[in-house]
Parts: sequence; C-alpha cells; structure tokens
Amino acid sequence: MGKSLVVVGCQFGDEGKGKIVDFLASSADAVVRYQGGNNAGHTVVVREKTYKFHLLPSGALQGKDIFIGNGVVVDPAVLLKEIKSLEAEGIKPRLHLSERSHVIFPFHRALDGAQETFKGKLGAGTTRRGIGPCYTDKIARFGVQAIELTQPALLREKLEKQVSLANSSLAVLGSKEKFTVEAVEKEYLEYGKQLAPYLCDVSLELFNLLAKPKTRVLFEGAQGTLLDIDHGVYPYGTSSNTIAGGACTGAGVGPTKISAVVGVTKAYTTRVGEGPFPTELTEEIGARLREAGHEYGTTTGRPRRCGWLDAVTLQYAVRINGLAGLAMTKVDVLNGISPVKVAIGYKVGTKLLTGQPSSLLDFSSAIPVYKELEGWNVKDWSKAKKKGLVALPAALRNYVKTVEKLAGVPVFLLSFGPGRDDTIVLKQPW
Ligand code: IMP
Repeated sequence: MGKSLVVVGCQFGDEGKGKIVDFLASSADAVVRYQGGNNAGHTVVVREKTYKFHLLPSGALQGKDIFIGNGVVVDPAVLLKEIKSLEAEGIKPRLHLSERSHVIFPFHRALDGAQETFKGKLGAGTTRRGIGPCYTDKIARFGVQAIELTQPALLREKLEKQVSLANSSLAVLGSKEKFTVEAVEKEYLEYGKQLAPYLCDVSLELFNLLAKPKTRVLFEGAQGTLLDIDHGVYPYGTSSNTIAGGACTGAGVGPTKISAVVGVTKAYTTRVGEGPFPTELTEEIGARLREAGHEYGTTTGRPRRCGWLDAVTLQYAVRINGLAGLAMTKVDVLNGISPVKVAIGYKVGTKLLTGQPSSLLDFSSAIPVYKELEGWNVKDWSKAKKKGLVALPAALRNYVKTVEKLAGVPVFLLSFGPGRDDTIVLKQPW
C-alpha cells in the first residue's frame, strides 16, 4: 500500500501550510485538497517568485497530480482562472476534480456578505467568498454538485428554486442584490463545459493510487484547527472540518489509509477575522510581528492579528488531529525579540485551565499564563541551510525543544523563510 500524509494547520489558519506542502510535494505523487474553498490562500515561493493559490493544491507548481475532493466548495471562475495562470507558466495542471464537490454561485457570495452585515457583532468576519452559504445549501440538500454543471435540465430545475430563495433571503437581509436564473445558468453551463475534462470520482482514483506500493499522497488542509466547524471556536470559524478527519470525509478515503498527520504551526500565532485570541499582542510587539512576518491576508489583504505561541491550543491540535509531529514556520520573524513567550495555561475567573475550553465565554475571558524564554537574533540563516539545527543559536534550539515538550510530539520541519530551501528537516515525516 502507498503512503499518505495529512498536513493540517494547528492554529487559526495561515500557518504556512502552502510552503510546507510545496516542500513535501517534491517527494509526493499527488496532492489533495479536501475542504474549504477559495477562502484559503496558499503562498508558495519558488526561485524568488511568489505564487498564490486559493483553490488549486500547492503541489500544482511541481506538475504533480492534483485532486480537489468532494469536501471542497468550488467557485468555478476562480478555479478556471488559476488553471489559466498555471498554463501561462507552461504548466498543464493534472487536475482531478470531484464530481461531488459543491459549486459556489454568485448568490452565495452575495448572501455571505449580507448575512455578515445582518449578524453584526455575531459575524465571523468571513472572507465573503460564499463559503458558508454554499456549505449551508449542501447540508440542506439544496446544493449543486460539480457534475450537475454538465446536466442542463437538472441544473435549470435547481437554479429555478435556488435563485428564487436566494433573492428572497437577500431582500430580508436588507440587500439590494438580485439574480436571474437565465444569467446564472448561462454562465455556469459554460463553466461546466470547461471543467468537464477534469471531473472524476476522486475517491476511486485515490483508492487505486494508494493501492500501488510506492505511491505517496499528500492531503493539504486549509484554514486551521481552531476554525473547524465542530472543534474550533464556534461560531468564529469556517464552515468545514479543517481537522485531519476532514481528509477522510472530504476526499472519500478510509481512515485506515492515512499513514500520518503533520501539524503546521507558526512560531507565534496570527488570526484574521473576529473571535477570541487569548495571546493577542495589540501593541508594539504585535505590530512588529505583523510587519516582519508580512501578516496580511492572502485572500482579503486584511491585517492579521498577531500574538505569542499558545501551547494550550497546540496540545489541543495534537490531540484532535492525532498529530505525529509538527512543522514550525517563521522562526525568523521572532528574530531580535527577547524574551519570547509561550502560553502554557489560562486563568478563567478563579480557575486555572490547562486545556482548550469548549465554552466561547471561557475562551473569550481567558488570560494566558506564560512561560518566558530567551530570544535569538540570527544574522545569517545560510549557515542553517547548510548545517541544519546545530548552526542555530542555543536559545532557538531551546525554543524548539520547549515546544516539543509542551506539545508532546517532535518538530519534524523547521522553516525560517518562504523559499523551499529555507527549511531544516529534523525528522522525515513520511
Ligand atoms: P469563511 O471561511 O470565509 O466563511 O470565514 C470564516 C472565518 O474563517 C473568518 O474568521 C475568516 O477570516 C476565517 N478564514 C477562512 N479562511 C481562512 C484562511 O485560509 N486563513 C485564515 N483564516 C481564514
């Protein structure tokens, strides 16, 4: 049997999964996206050129087989644009798109914005890409699967109902946007024609691929553990299962076919959008991390909120994802800051918590208890490229060790820059 590795985010998304997946993809045959949609933004830097993907898996640049599973919500215009941009680079994407993936329509995007405005303070600060409303229709058994873009009669029947309901909902929400069945139908039948060559049974193809002894398949998670619809900070997350289990349901792969799970964590924490963030730094160090780490959303350009690493969350991510190890990114961004802090517990009222609270109110009022560690200031990272961890200062090595101890799993990969070679392999994750 082949091997499969799931890569997930341990925090609030933007942990650097794109770079880690791209790094690991060189030794993989296929890369699979299994949840989320174009709310994600994966940045990959190759030979100093920056590529940003929202839908295509990060292995796309390496000419690997790339899969978009049933659990993904697909905006066809975005997908076709990304396919064309790759073609412009001379890469013909070997894309396999699940017939069962769900389609984002313009009224989903409009509803996303109108619902956010309507919800006011209760809104999650979504990316307004139509993700939530598309998943809502899927779960309500009222959505359109990708294969149905090639079935005109059924598509028309569904759109008649969907557009009518969406227009009514938009009016109730106070939006002036309105859609017509004809315009949406015309646009999406054309997308259907263009996407038809890529449509397939992803679950079956992955099953056959993994049946081959030497195959290696990477599952690329989007967003992060604390944004998971079931296990994240509800309701301030996204609408899919971002945790490792999502790879099974979102790609149609049985749990026994997953060989291992790696969690990606920044050396500090960031989040975009609303919701509690106990270790947030609102003053000087937060601003410094934002500038040094270029912490602005890949999808929306919003400034990210920045804070210290949170080992309580990290332990939770290890448990809920069954992590074998970590990939720690952006250790270079903490350069020159001393001491650096890591949260090891929370004070909630008179209680001291060492585990992730389920209650939003508890998490919102959590005051972190910190462990302080000596910082580092690496002048020249090129030595680390050649010699690995031994070339790094004792304080940084101690930080890695401390994180391993707190998380209870080893750090497999350490990343100190956006490029593929800005990476130290401490242990092979495969
Ligand atoms: P949605 O996924 O667009 O519905 O947004 C829901 C929440 O998830 C918002 O707080 C977003 O900022 C956040 N979110 C969605 N996708 C990402 C991502 O790729 N990185 C970080 N945050 C995200």
